[in-house]
Amino acid sequence: MPQYPVYRPRRLRRTEQLRGLVRETQVTPADLILPLFVTAGRANRRPIGSMPGVDQTSVDELLKDAREAWELGVPGVILFGIPETKDEVGSSGYADDGVVQQAVRALKEELPGLLVITDVCLCEYTSHGHCGVLHGHEVDNDRSLPLLAQMAVSHARAGADIVAPSDMMDGRVGAIRAALDEAGFRDTPILAYSAKYASAFYGPFREAAESAPQFGDRKAYQMDPANADEALREVRLDIEEGADIVMVKPAHAYLDVIRRVKDSFGYPVCAYHVSGEYSMVMAAAERGWIDGDRAMREVLTAIKRAGADLIITYYARQFVRNG
Ligand code: PBG
Repeated sequence: MPQYPVYRPRRLRRTEQLRGLVRETQVTPADLILPLFVTAGRANRRPIGSMPGVDQTSVDELLKDAREAWELGVPGVILFGIPETKDEVGSSGYADDGVVQQAVRALKEELPGLLVITDVCLCEYTSHGHCGVLHGHEVDNDRSLPLLAQMAVSHARAGADIVAPSDMMDGRVGAIRAALDEAGFRDTPILAYSAKYASAFYGPFREAAESAPQFGDRKAYQMDPANADEALREVRLDIEEGADIVMVKPAHAYLDVIRRVKDSFGYPVCAYHVSGEYSMVMAAAERGWIDGDRAMREVLTAIKRAGADLIITYYARQFVRNG
């Protein structure tokens, strides 16, 4: 390696054109997935107070947001449902006329090229707000699996391109793969939330999805933020059970985990830049404390640089619009 004054790193930083030639990482619209929250009814659009720029919408309004994303070059959306009714076992989550199932059908009809990903989890549909069914005050892992599998199949039947289990039950990827194959959906990929941490950064999402647990927390099934070796074990299990893409979530606070997952498995890695990570940039920008757009680009670039192939972000449309 030559030394100064032979090597002057500043030579390649002098203009935007030079910087562009040697830039190592570039986030493009094609890397991004936009999350959308779907409610029942018509002509509903309710802004989420803690997530500026994000709304809960009924299917007709959701189509407008999805079309805008598609026209901007964003290849996919991930859907979360806010059902009219909740019960102990989350049955509105796997009803064929559920809000997500209706949204999937409408999206595939209106925008056939747009990739429709569905979040598979019971927490938005259960009265207690936990991600599986309860036995006393504990989530019963094995009794939750068939319900999650049923939900995934009902999403696939509605036309979902990819199903994304986020519940963190053990064995759910295998159960979902088997159920999809059995129902004839051999080619429907699974995007597994493999290393999903019990994070404080999900706060705003729980307002958006109305899915806060009614008692306790999710620490008995989501991962301890202190653990990275364990994340690799979780990813390995999901790959062995049939995951096609693995996810690390949150993203910004877990860049080291993204890198280790990428290097260890060479699998497609998705990173979820979650609600709280989005909101904190937006909030600081609203106060004029940081340049929100620049900060968001820097964070998304860091997530890609860490090894993410695709990024779920609430900023997908603004990223392209302000680009
Ligand atoms: C459902 C789910 C959550 C998120 C995605 N799927 C919330 C949770 O686990 O409490 C969080 C997404 C975000 O914060 O943006 N289990």
